[in-house]
Amino acid sequence: MKTRVIHIADPDKQEKEIMEAVELIRSGEVVAFPTETVYGLGANALDARAVNRIFQAKARPGDNPLIVHIHDLSQWNQLVLDIPQKALLLAERFWPGPLTMILNKSERVPLETTAGLHTVGVRMPSHPVALKLISLSGVPIAAPSANRSGRPSPTAAQHVLQDMDSRIPMILDGGRCDVGVESTVLDLTESVPVVLRPGGVTLEMLESVVGQVVVHPNVMKPLKQGQITRSPGMKYVHYAPKAPVTLIRGDLHKQVEFIDTEASRREKQGERPGILATNQTLACYQAGVRLSMGDRSRPAELAENLFARLREFDALDVDFILAEGVDDKGEGLAVMNRIARAAGFHIIDL
Ligand code: TXA
Ligand code: MG
Repeated sequence: MKTRVIHIADPDKQEKEIMEAVELIRSGEVVAFPTETVYGLGANALDARAVNRIFQAKARPGDNPLIVHIHDLSQWNQLVLDIPQKALLLAERFWPGPLTMILNKSERVPLETTAGLHTVGVRMPSHPVALKLISLSGVPIAAPSANRSGRPSPTAAQHVLQDMDSRIPMILDGGRCDVGVESTVLDLTESVPVVLRPGGVTLEMLESVVGQVVVHPNVMKPLKQGQITRSPGMKYVHYAPKAPVTLIRGDLHKQVEFIDTEASRREKQGERPGILATNQTLACYQAGVRLSMGDRSRPAELAENLFARLREFDALDVDFILAEGVDDKGEGLAVMNRIARAAGFHIIDL
């Protein structure tokens, strides 16, 4: 199958091009499209066969549920049994945007979409191409991130092509994703909301609207062997570049000293180190390939660049990656969660 890449600069003026993607969605095919977080791999969320194609294209484990994307609130009503007050308040404040809310699903959502769960995660993305695609399709669109299972999520159409070439018919290219990490996943099926995956809508932002919110303990800790989880996504290797990653946390001076020493030592032994640094520390290192996520005082900027940097390390053929830790406030929690997971929770605390 040949994968066509269609560039959409202005969705209002390019409805004709978007209609090609819409036809594919309507006929049960899979299309990659941009969102403000990462690129998604979309199909009709109400069509079990179409949804199965997503799992095939990604080689995604069958028990990991998909997020359903909508363009207006009436679509949400049809997907869930009941919308609690807290969910309504959050939708009012953060939709369209990088927040996925989990509620009990209605009959209309096939179990294929939710991987057998009786809950469904729904979000209204803010990217104009995504909104146009969903509204013209007339159906909610199930979409995981458009990477091959286990790889860093794609934040540019080129990344999607790296992973999906000849596996899907079309990629809508809407430029680079602004947020850069996936949406915040919030479970609202119990009275106190639980963050299952931190993202662009931060804990602090959620609490300012609904009061107490807890972060699931496995956001920064691996599951125990055999542990049952509310979010099946927590079980799997994620976001991993080809080279093994180690996350270094603790006092910044100690981090820099440790990384510099370790990278130099292993470089002398013939290995090619990768160092994932920040603008403030980049010049401190002598060894290896050094890339910056951005300004460490601006966590949103770190989030925006993280996945693209992990893919760059692949292209630069490093043997291992040492990643600096950052402050876990605001979007920093999402950054630390993604690095910890890319590292398979291989973390050194100094
Ligand atoms: O920003 C995003 O959310 C992107 C874009 C494309 O919208 N999508 C995305 O999808 O990141 P995916 O499939 O890569 O991640 C979905 C996460 C997984 O960790 C999954 O386990 C969790 O959400 N999830 C989805 N539905 C769930 C449910 N009903 N209960 C618990 N966790 C759920
Ligand atoms: Mg994903």
